[in-house]
Amino acid sequence: MSQQDQEEETGKLAIRLANAAVLPMVLKSAVELNIIDIIFTATSDGGGAVLSSSEIAARIPTKNPDASVLLDRMLRLLASYDILKCLTCTKENGEIERAYSAGPICKFLVKSEGGSGGSVAPLFLLHHDEVFMKSWGIPFNRAYGMTAFEYPGTDQRFNSVFNQAMSSHTTLIMKKILDIYKGFDGLKVCVDVGGGTGVTLNIITSKYPHIKGINYDLSHVLADAPSYPALPSNGKVIIVESLLPVSPENVASSHIVFEQDLLMLAQNPGGKERTQKEFEVLAKKSGFSGCEVMCCAYNSWVMEFEKRALP
Ligand SMILES: C[S@@+](CC[C@H](N)C(=O)[O-])C[C@H]1O[C@@H](n2cnc3c(N)ncnc32)[C@H](O)[C@@H]1O
Repeated sequence: MSQQDQEEETGKLAIRLANAAVLPMVLKSAVELNIIDIIFTATSDGGGAVLSSSEIAARIPTKNPDASVLLDRMLRLLASYDILKCLTCTKENGEIERAYSAGPICKFLVKSEGGSGGSVAPLFLLHHDEVFMKSWGIPFNRAYGMTAFEYPGTDQRFNSVFNQAMSSHTTLIMKKILDIYKGFDGLKVCVDVGGGTGVTLNIITSKYPHIKGINYDLSHVLADAPSYPALPSNGKVIIVESLLPVSPENVASSHIVFEQDLLMLAQNPGGKERTQKEFEVLAKKSGFSGCEVMCCAYNSWVMEFEKRALP
């Protein structure tokens, strides 16, 4: 590439960074309007079905006569990021019409958790909720006078947004982990500290009915929890966490962990991601013999901290 071409590409990248707010805002509207679910449900069965923007507009509760034109402008942006697939056809009058189908990523973005057993749509909505957006610039506890874990106790709407985000994301990860990780095999009791609405324990005890699950969380979170059937230690602590890379080698994974690290910086005093080495130090300081990394699902790593009884 010539120096001039390189400069052109770098300049375009800078403009895209300047416009970076547009994609998440358009995707947020598409998720809130149920558009991703509508396209996924109608087109993801492999039969080659597509929906035009007017067909999609007819399935959402709007009276705006321009809805299909506005939708088309949003959907072509999502297609340009491969979130949707786009087909174009030329009508008899020469007009170009676009039709859309679900891209592979849509199964992770549907609110109805179709097929994937978990979803990141509620997590996406949480991260772009006005409550969290305010904490970019002013740290959460200074903006609201309390931590991001205490605040949901004062705001029922946000409490549901928060708990739904946690449980849908966790479902995605835990279902995959239970396919590969066998560390729950010999356990009789499993205590989930900060276990949210209990989704992790429900997934574990559904597969291992002999394990007694004890969920520990704040009262406003437990008040939002569904009731699960009651199902009938060896000092092992199992942690599912992201691991901070020492340097940004694997670009996609690094982006995720660096982003999560900054989310925690903005929202929780002292919150941060840790490297494997830092987890090892933490384990030893807390009286464990060490920290063994077992397996990974969508960038969340299972780590075992072992504490052996003294002879
Ligand atoms: C990142 S969320 C994870 C939720 C849950 N593990 C899940 O995956 O759905 C952290 C959880 O820790 C809880 N938490 C924070 N501080 C706590 C405390 N002091 N005691 C008990 N739970 C706490 C929060 O209410 C929140 O539900």
